[in-house]
Amino acid sequence: MKKLITGATGHFGALALAHLSTLVPTSEIVASARNPDKAADIRAKGIEVRKGDFDDQALMEQAFTGIDAALIVSAEADNETRIRQHRTAITAAKNAGVKHVIYTSVIDPRADSGFTYAAIHADTEAFIKQSGLSYTILRNSFYADLLLGGVPHALETGQYAAPAGDAGITYIPRTDLAEIAAIVLANPAKHTNKTYDLTGTKAITHSEIAAIIASATGKNIAFADLPNDVYQGILRSLGLPEHAVIAISGIYLAAKNGDYNTVSKDAATLLGRPPQSVEDFLKQALNQG
Ligand SMILES: NC(=O)c1ccc[n+]([C@@H]2O[C@H](COP(=O)([O-])OP(=O)(O)OC[C@H]3O[C@@H](n4cnc5c(N)ncnc54)[C@H](OP(=O)(O)O)[C@@H]3O)[C@@H](O)[C@H]2O)c1
Repeated sequence: MKKLITGATGHFGALALAHLSTLVPTSEIVASARNPDKAADIRAKGIEVRKGDFDDQALMEQAFTGIDAALIVSAEADNETRIRQHRTAITAAKNAGVKHVIYTSVIDPRADSGFTYAAIHADTEAFIKQSGLSYTILRNSFYADLLLGGVPHALETGQYAAPAGDAGITYIPRTDLAEIAAIVLANPAKHTNKTYDLTGTKAITHSEIAAIIASATGKNIAFADLPNDVYQGILRSLGLPEHAVIAISGIYLAAKNGDYNTVSKDAATLLGRPPQSVEDFLKQALNQG
């Protein structure tokens, strides 16, 4: 039973690969990467590496040849490009005879979401479901890891800034989500045509997050609620493409509309333990320096 992970040289793919290696023999694992030269450490573990790029259907069909189950990690691009890329990957999987696909979607994937990338995931989910492939959809909530991005500014200014108001968001550590993906990929038949809502243990506000960072660092840090246009200006000044500026700021718009505040037990059920809380995640990350 061969299992493939796309985006194996990305953060999520690498973590999923590491977790999967603890669950099944490495001889059953194949890693797909756009640039196999970046995958020397994967090969060194005895894992086969194949070149794969969602922009090239023939290449993806080769990558998927002989594969029984594949974790398709969503790509990073504007909506139109990514919808096309994901459809290409699913079509290639089907043509190559893959039996089961697992896809990293997002929580609350709706075409009309304030989080504009949600429309990509809504399209890919629908495309998978109409493909006839056996599937598992992992609706990942937002990575707790993203919260570390605002820490240097908070340490400098005393302000943990985001346009979040008092919205609660069910952040969850990326490594827990990757472990779940590996658990499903290790035994896909147990998760046939299931859709999981993978959230953290609670919906946490940015005031609470600021208080955790203050406590973990011993600094005087408070939440600063930014106007959306100011936040978008900061993202632009960091060089982010416009689609990412709109999407990332849109996370907070959606959250203020009540998305992302519903806790699901799916993550704990699949992990066999609760995911790490945001508080423990941040304390651990900040204490590691
Ligand atoms: N839930 C969240 O909070 C959250 C946050 C950020 C992103 N995401 C989504 O989750 C995905 C995984 O997150 P991450 O942290 O691992 O991001 P990441 O480190 O940026 O990894 C993105 C992966 O997508 C791969 N990729 C990009 N374009 C591709 C293409 N044309 N064909 C095949 N693979 C392609 C990249 O390949 P290379 O290794 O070759 O570059 C990389 O492995 C992201 O791509 C994004 O869709 C979720």
